[in-house]
Amino acid sequence: MIPYCSICWDVDRVKLLDQRRLPAEELYLEIKDYREIIEAIRTLAIRGAPAIGVAAAMGAALGALDIETQDKDEFQARFAKICQEIAKARPTAVNLFWALDRVQRLAQAHAHESVAAVKERLVNEAQTMLAEDETTNRHLAAAGQVLIHEGQRVLTHCNTGALATGAYGTALGVLRAAWEAGKRFSVWVDETRPLLQGARLTTWELGKLKIPYTLIPDGAAATLMHQGKVDLVILGADRIAANGDTANKIGTYSVAVLAHHHGIPFYVAAPMSTVDFAIPDGNHIPVEERAAAEVTHLWGQAVAPAGAPALNLAFDVTPFELIAGIVTEKGIMEPPFTSSLKPYRPTQE
Ligand code: MRU
Repeated sequence: MIPYCSICWDVDRVKLLDQRRLPAEELYLEIKDYREIIEAIRTLAIRGAPAIGVAAAMGAALGALDIETQDKDEFQARFAKICQEIAKARPTAVNLFWALDRVQRLAQAHAHESVAAVKERLVNEAQTMLAEDETTNRHLAAAGQVLIHEGQRVLTHCNTGALATGAYGTALGVLRAAWEAGKRFSVWVDETRPLLQGARLTTWELGKLKIPYTLIPDGAAATLMHQGKVDLVILGADRIAANGDTANKIGTYSVAVLAHHHGIPFYVAAPMSTVDFAIPDGNHIPVEERAAAEVTHLWGQAVAPAGAPALNLAFDVTPFELIAGIVTEKGIMEPPFTSSLKPYRPTQE
C-alpha cells in the first residue's frame, strides 16, 4: 500500500497532491473551481499524461456542477466551452484530449436527460476513469514486468509512477510489479532537467517502494552505458503516434539514441489512451514550449545571466526505430508498431 494518491474526487471537490512542492512537503490542494484545475495542470501541480487525463475529466465535472441552468441545450453549449478551455491547459499529452472527448461524448449521449442527471453522470464518469486508470496500469505492469530480470540496472527518465497516473504508475509500475514479484534490481534515475521530475518525484516514489535507486545527472547516462552499467531503459510517454513515434519528457530521445548506440533495449510503457491513432507519425505531435525562466532559474534563483536567451521544449519525439517495445495494458507491442497497435485503434475514429 502506498499512502498517497495523485488525485481523487471527494464529495464535491477534487483533491490533488501538489507535485510542485514534493519532496519537501506533502500538501493536498482542494479544488472546487475548474479554472483552478486548469492552473494546476499548467503549473505541473498535477502532471504525467494519465494523471492529466483524469484531472481534465474531474475538472470538466467541476465545471459542469457550476453551470446554473436547467435548459438542456444551454447546458451542453456551456459544458462544451468549459471543455475547450480545459483543452488549452497543455498541448502534448494526448490523454487530456482523450479524456475531454470521452466526457463530452457522454454528455451528448445523454443530452435528452435532465441537467442534474447529466451532471451526476459526469461526476461518476470522472471517478470511473480514475479507477480504470489504476486497473489499466496494473495490467500494463503485469505484462511488462517480464522484461525485468534479477540483478539488472534499469535506467528511467522523468516520472511515471503513481504520481503521474491515477495510481500504480506505468514504467515505474512495471518496476513495482517486478519488485513485488520478488525480483531484485536497481534503478538509475535521470534527474530530468529542467523541472527535476526524476530528482524530486521518481526518487521519492522509489524510496517509498523501497526499490534501490541512484540519482544521476542527465548527462551521466552515456558514461554509465559505455561502462556497461545499464541493462535496460524503460520510461513513459505523453503521446504515441500510430507508427510508434513517441513524445516524452525532453531528454528521452537522447537516452534512446544512447541506448541504441550501446545495444541496450529501450522500452516505452504507456496505456492505450496515450496512443493517438489520428496521427500517422511523430511529426504531427505538438510539442509544448514552456517559459524560458524554467531553464534560466532554479526555484526562483537565477542560474544564467539576466536576459540569457533560453529554449525550453518540454518534450521530444523518439522515432519508433529506437524503441524495442511498447508496454501497454494489452501486452507488449512489438515492432512494426503500425501493425501491432492497429487492432486497438478505436472504432469511432
Ligand atoms: O511535464 P510532465 O512532468 O507532465 O512530463 C511527464 C512525462 O514526460 C512522463 O514521462 C509521461 O507523461 C508519462 S507519465 C506516466
